[in-house]
Amino acid sequence: MSIVVTGATGHLGRHVVRQLLEKVPADRITAVVRDRDKAADLAARGVRLAVADYNAPETFDGLFAAGDRVLLVSGNEFDKGRVGQHTVVIDAAKRAGVALLAYTSAPSSLTAALADDHRATEEVLVGSGVPYVLLRNGWYHENYTEQLAPVLEHGAVVQAAGEGRVSSASRADYAAAAVAVLTGEGHENKAYELGGDEAWSFAEYAAELSRQTGREIAYTPVSTEAYTGILTGAGVPAPLAEVFAGVDAAIEEGELVVPTGDLSRLTGRPTTPLAEAVAEALKS
Ligand SMILES: NC(=O)c1ccc[n+]([C@@H]2O[C@H](COP(=O)([O-])OP(=O)(O)OC[C@H]3O[C@@H](n4cnc5c(N)ncnc54)[C@H](OP(=O)(O)O)[C@@H]3O)[C@@H](O)[C@H]2O)c1
Repeated sequence: MSIVVTGATGHLGRHVVRQLLEKVPADRITAVVRDRDKAADLAARGVRLAVADYNAPETFDGLFAAGDRVLLVSGNEFDKGRVGQHTVVIDAAKRAGVALLAYTSAPSSLTAALADDHRATEEVLVGSGVPYVLLRNGWYHENYTEQLAPVLEHGAVVQAAGEGRVSSASRADYAAAAVAVLTGEGHENKAYELGGDEAWSFAEYAAELSRQTGREIAYTPVSTEAYTGILTGAGVPAPLAEVFAGVDAAIEEGELVVPTGDLSRLTGRPTTPLAEAVAEALKS
């Protein structure tokens, strides 16, 4: 019996494995990776590795065992049919008789196109009969704090979100919620709406950047069309730019405010403040 984490060499997956290592022996953790070399550091710590690809169903044959607790980290290949990819993992988990499959989804309030794959995956998972947990992750701080170069260069936060607010949290916070579910009891067949304790607006984000850098950084709200154009101009493929602009439109509608408190309740501590993520990003 193992705790199995897919996407283990991704940003979120790495946080999950790191935090699991603080709670359970390394040989009880299996990291599912596409590239064994990328996971050499995990193997060195005693974590078991399994090489598999969501696009190759056969690579999941025999990967799970009865009683495993699995975290399915949603994929990032938007053009490859993520629902089919996730279904490959769910089917394999069902065949093996895993005890729990937690899936990193999106808040139920989010109607943007980005959420479509998550809704459809949830349906497959809930219909599969596998004991599930829906970790409906809200936005990461890092979606913004890891994109600071153009903001600092132009002295402007450019988004198409109007006065909308976001209750984001750090990836480490969402990872802690996943770890709580994977190592705790009584989470079967539950859905958690996860978000940061405090919602902020882009004007407030720009003010925080100004405060921490000592430079004047303003929020420049633009239209959805203008924002799509800016993204494509910066090299983002048009379909993806539209998805991102759709998320901003959803933020303007308040769809990424998650006021449930589920995240801090699951982790047993307040979520990381945005200001802390900004400070962290400015340091590196
Ligand atoms: N809540 C949010 O704000 C937010 C923001 C961005 C993304 N997300 C979603 O949350 C997920 C985790 O976030 P993240 O920051 O950790 O993203 P990430 O760093 O891009 O990690 C994605 C992980 O999925 C793995 N993966 C992708 N395609 C795969 C495939 N065909 N077979 C097996 N593994 C595959 C990647 O493997 P490799 O390591 O081999 O590349 C990687 O480990 C993302 O994939 C996305 O679905 C959420």
